[in-house]
Amino acid sequence: MDLGLDGKVAIITGGSKGIGRATALRMLEEGASVLACARGMQALEETVTAARGRESGRLAVMQADLAESATMDKIVERCIAEFGRVDILVNNAGSARLGRIDELPDAVWLEDYQLKFFGYVRMARAVMPAFQQQRAGVIVNVIGIGGLMPSAGYLSGGSANAALNHFTKALADQGAPYGVRVVGVNPGPIATERYRGFVRPKAALSEAEAEKIVAEALKESTPLGRAGNPEEVADLIAFLASDRAAFITGASVAIDGGKNRNGLAN
Ligand SMILES: NC(=O)c1ccc[n+]([C@@H]2O[C@H](COP(=O)([O-])OP(=O)(O)OC[C@H]3O[C@@H](n4cnc5c(N)ncnc54)[C@H](OP(=O)(O)O)[C@@H]3O)[C@@H](O)[C@H]2O)c1
Repeated sequence: MDLGLDGKVAIITGGSKGIGRATALRMLEEGASVLACARGMQALEETVTAARGRESGRLAVMQADLAESATMDKIVERCIAEFGRVDILVNNAGSARLGRIDELPDAVWLEDYQLKFFGYVRMARAVMPAFQQQRAGVIVNVIGIGGLMPSAGYLSGGSANAALNHFTKALADQGAPYGVRVVGVNPGPIATERYRGFVRPKAALSEAEAEKIVAEALKESTPLGRAGNPEEVADLIAFLASDRAAFITGASVAIDGGKNRNGLAN
């Protein structure tokens, strides 16, 4: 299926690792041009190396901290300077911590929300005027099934995700009259650096023992008997960002190996 992403321009936050990098590579293969943003230059450079020979679109990378409110306009400006326009925003940079109420002081909540909630809101606000003016554009929010499955051990991340599912639906209403779509993706366990860090035992174990425990946890993480891989999420994001998904807006799609038990939607 040709997604028709050839010639489109996408900003991908957190585009240097995990789901974000896989999405950048997928979009490049489809002929889109990508501005990938993250804090660490090394992983951005590794993404450039990974893209070599696979891409038909152009890749630019930018060092940016999405927890800082001044960053958003600079990212959009850079994208327009580099590629002349923006068609797609993939809000993906996020990393809320695990923790119960007694383990999460205000500072942790505020830090997690700065990135995972306000990072997405501010990026959406930065692209929305151009999207409305060009009467086209897609925002894909990479959220997480933690927002659909409340858990005492993932309070800040889960509640930020719940808020982002709400935000996705509500912003879609604003975009619809202008032909601007806003969609969400709710990944379950995806075997990225971040998720492996969650399940890796904190005890002092040998590398082999720790890896064995991680492998077991990934196996038990979903009814399908495995964690997802970033490329599977990237395929879904690329589809949702494409005109093939032109009738999908305001929806958040779960990609979780059947893990979400809460309700039939999502
Ligand atoms: N993996 C899962 O199981 C899973 C499940 C549900 C939802 N999600 C969501 O999916 C998204 C991607 O997760 P992932 O597992 O792919 O994570 P990952 O492998 O840790 O990659 C995270 C990316 O975000 C960047 N990033 C982190 N903090 C940033 C900041 N302050 N400013 C700019 N960039 C930042 C990282 O680069 P730098 O560190 O260099 O900045 C990296 O490129 C997250 O929003 C996460 O909540 C993941």
